[in-house]
Amino acid sequence: MTFRDPFPQLKTRLKGYQMNPVTQQLISHRSIRKYTGKVVPDGLIDEIVRCGQSAATSSNVQATTVIRVRDAQTRREIARLAGDQEYVTTAGAFLMFCADLNRSRRACEMGGGRFVAGMTEQFIIATVDVALFAQNCAVAAESLGLGICYIGGIRNDPEQVCRLLALPDQVYPVFGFCLGYPAQDPEVKPRLPLSVVLKEERYRDLKDPEGIAAYDEQIRNYYQTRTGGTKDSCWTMEMKALVGKESRPHMRKFLKSRGFTMR
Ligand SMILES: Cc1cc2nc3c(=O)[nH]c(=O)nc-3n(C[C@H](O)[C@H](O)[C@H](O)COP(=O)(O)O)c2cc1C
Repeated sequence: MTFRDPFPQLKTRLKGYQMNPVTQQLISHRSIRKYTGKVVPDGLIDEIVRCGQSAATSSNVQATTVIRVRDAQTRREIARLAGDQEYVTTAGAFLMFCADLNRSRRACEMGGGRFVAGMTEQFIIATVDVALFAQNCAVAAESLGLGICYIGGIRNDPEQVCRLLALPDQVYPVFGFCLGYPAQDPEVKPRLPLSVVLKEERYRDLKDPEGIAAYDEQIRNYYQTRTGGTKDSCWTMEMKALVGKESRPHMRKFLKSRGFTMR
């Protein structure tokens, strides 16, 4: 991938600083939703998942289980459940990232203990673990020339996903993950100005509206360019659609049914 610095403003506080290949790659990330048909070889998947395993993990709990889904029918079913996201079926590989306390329960019992289920803290630990693991996989995959796309859409119907993948109690699917050889080269999506997300000493959001307004403008242009003028949206409109309504309200009941009772 050739490096196109999408955030030149970063240089202003780092005079003369050249980004290194790792930071250049990180800042060049963009989700890939079109793939060539080429299957990702097992050896590459092993390497990528091994990189995921090396992420920091809370108290060494290692609460991530990854399921590679190869079966075409299962992938079609997951794609449908996720809201007809075709790339679940066309990516060179599809992984399901699961938060897994079933293994910790087993280890606890093998060690002679009795598992205490349902703690909110354990739920947070397991979910954070999965996110760190997966993001390591994302970075590893991109460094190998692959593209990726997270699939949170699987939480539209997480019970069906559990059924399809035979997930036991104390395990829940956090997100799916497409990876494969890119058949597109989209622009990097702009992010909020650094001043909005990086604060000094304490929380201050008085000037955030200016930064958000500037970002609205920038991302509106990005959508216009990317879609040939058909998508007219911006960040505040997206947030209105996202957090201005109830979001997957079935999740609480679902998590409870998996043993994540949030005590
Ligand atoms: C946890 C998570 C779930 C996501 N779920 C989906 C999804 O279901 N479908 C999709 O097309 N993109 C999904 N995305 C990708 C985001 O839309 C994307 O990362 C975001 O718009 C920023 O764009 P970029 O990744 O190209 O920089 C997801 C990303 C994350 C982190």
